[in-house]
Amino acid sequence: MNQVTGTGMNRKDGRAKVTGTATYGAEHQISGLVHGYLVTANIAHGQITHIDTQAALAIPEVIAVFTHKNAPTISKPTNNFMTSKIYEARLPLSDDQIHYAGQIIGLVVADTFEQARHAAHLVKVEYTPQKPIVEAAKATYKEAPPMFGEAMKFEKGNFASGDLASAMESAAATITATYTTAPELHAPMEPHAIIAHWQASDSLTVYEPSQWVVGSQRTYAELFGLPIEQVRIVTPFIGGGFGSKAFPWSHGILCAAVARELQRPLKVVLSRRQMTANAGHRSETEQTISLGANTDGSLIGIDHLAKSSTSPVDVFTEPCTGITPAMYAASNLRLQQELAVMNVGVPTFMRAPGENPGLWALESAMDELAWKLDIDPVELRLKNETTEHQRRNLPFSAKHFGECLRVGAEQFGWQDRPKQVGSLTREGKLIGWGMAASTFPALRGMASVTVRLLAEETVEILTSGNDMGTGSYTIVAGTAAQVLGLPVEQIQVKMGDSLLPNGGMAGGSQMTATLVPAVMAACQKVLKTANTTTAQSAFAVLQQSGEKAFEATASSAPGDEGNKWAFQSWGAHFCEVSIDEEIARLRVTRWVSVMNIGRVMNAKTAASQVRGGVIMGIGQALMEECSFDPNLGYPVVYDLATYHFPSHADIPRIQVTFVGEPDYNFNQAGVRGVGEIGITGVSAAIANAIYHATGKRIRNLPITPDKLL
Ligand code: MOS
Repeated sequence: MNQVTGTGMNRKDGRAKVTGTATYGAEHQISGLVHGYLVTANIAHGQITHIDTQAALAIPEVIAVFTHKNAPTISKPTNNFMTSKIYEARLPLSDDQIHYAGQIIGLVVADTFEQARHAAHLVKVEYTPQKPIVEAAKATYKEAPPMFGEAMKFEKGNFASGDLASAMESAAATITATYTTAPELHAPMEPHAIIAHWQASDSLTVYEPSQWVVGSQRTYAELFGLPIEQVRIVTPFIGGGFGSKAFPWSHGILCAAVARELQRPLKVVLSRRQMTANAGHRSETEQTISLGANTDGSLIGIDHLAKSSTSPVDVFTEPCTGITPAMYAASNLRLQQELAVMNVGVPTFMRAPGENPGLWALESAMDELAWKLDIDPVELRLKNETTEHQRRNLPFSAKHFGECLRVGAEQFGWQDRPKQVGSLTREGKLIGWGMAASTFPALRGMASVTVRLLAEETVEILTSGNDMGTGSYTIVAGTAAQVLGLPVEQIQVKMGDSLLPNGGMAGGSQMTATLVPAVMAACQKVLKTANTTTAQSAFAVLQQSGEKAFEATASSAPGDEGNKWAFQSWGAHFCEVSIDEEIARLRVTRWVSVMNIGRVMNAKTAASQVRGGVIMGIGQALMEECSFDPNLGYPVVYDLATYHFPSHADIPRIQVTFVGEPDYNFNQAGVRGVGEIGITGVSAAIANAIYHATGKRIRNLPITPDKLL
């Protein structure tokens, strides 16, 4: 059953974006603005012995130079989700120690960006270097410590059930293999940037891409000892975040602190090179998976050990094993998560953190098992589907994973698949078909929304929640239009400003499920306030009475449904690759994705989210790799030219279909979320297709031409 509501709305913000009138963080016009440029470390480990700012300060237009010797005052935040969260626990310029290449060691402020940048290069720094560790193979791994402090323990990494050793002993077939992923960069189109403007010594406005303006508001308030309402975060638009714009980074904290010292509005824009170290990345991962199964393919044991790396200055675990107990039924499980400290900037959330590398390993291993047992990989997955989340012991709500697999197989023509490796060719090239499962948990937060029905027959919807490019403006407007019985053109939406009612966080694919129920509630409430059932008659009442507006605010939040159900979205990817063996040239030539995400609010933008995820997954599978010089510790990939990712010519038509039904156990709108699921399973589907084409099992991403030769 296809359950898309409507054929799809165009983006409310589309025209503003393509005509350049959408204002991003660094583009806000503030009078009296001055410019900061970061000075960054060019060693990866050691100590600053001498820092000379004379030459920089000698430039007339240079206003100030800050280093650890004259660091601005910043309060240490509690650094957890409940109060304040920053990406890097170490505050900028807090001492003379260097923990990773590119670490911020100074900020030069000048009248113009060019002057600040020039002066930054005149700052002379001497170091006592120590040998950095930037290679995972040389790092020492230990059991992963709690993430985000004791208050929010990272619990989902380690888990055991049953008796794995005896299960593996008794299994008719087992496979064990190790899979790796490279460090990856978020590479958003909009670089990280901030303008900090102190209107008074106790009043701060921040213009910055923030996926969570209310979270950032709390954090900046704590960093500068201000009441929360004295801080305003303004983020009407985000040019791509993918997890790298959820909390304040060091450059933003430093910018706000220096702006306060100088009593001038200050702008800091990061270069692509500076973003490599100071705006997060996806950790390098190494995962070893063992599967044990009976001859009919039913799994009896899964062993999953995941290793990832973090930075000396904060703890981030890429939670690869989190998804494993949700995927396939196996009564004997062992999940372990290990972490090593390396001299790199802080890794962080990147589109499907954990689920993405986790499914790369698990879905590759499932394919290996299918070949070993001579069972169709779609059949193997159908056979092992689980109706409950095996770590949380909860049944899944509105799960249609099997339907995704069956519909995808049929659309792709999977049943015609020649079973032999290397048996498909076209125009002298090897052709391979591969598939993999896709999944992402459904999250939902608290949101408040204000609705105003205005006498001039327009509607305003106000909420602080963000549209990070995913289409939130459009579905908020569409939801209001539906409840109020108006054309979507009559709805105006204001989002992404902490002055607006708390609209929650654009992270964890939860903005839709967070906002839509609150928008519905607020629209129903405003009609009640107006004592009518349609917006049209409310407008008529306003026009007769001469009143300006009816207004209502409503909130919605999760209840106790999370104790009864596990909420999760599902999908399946099917793909074809063509390989020119002589020159190891691989093309992805066909793609089918079938997704089960609850109710689809906007067919157009939902499909775009899946396509964006698939494209990002193709990049991960074939191109993306941020490697470090093993001796110097510096990233050897540092901008959009050296960090390879797909362009249009690399991408085939991506056919996206949604199946299932609204998930009313989750919320009254039945919506789950679609931001991240699309990327999960993509790299495994491609590696599985490569095996079908060539018989080569490639377990290390990215699959660059050298690995195909
Ligand atoms: Mo996402 S990685 O939760 O922005």
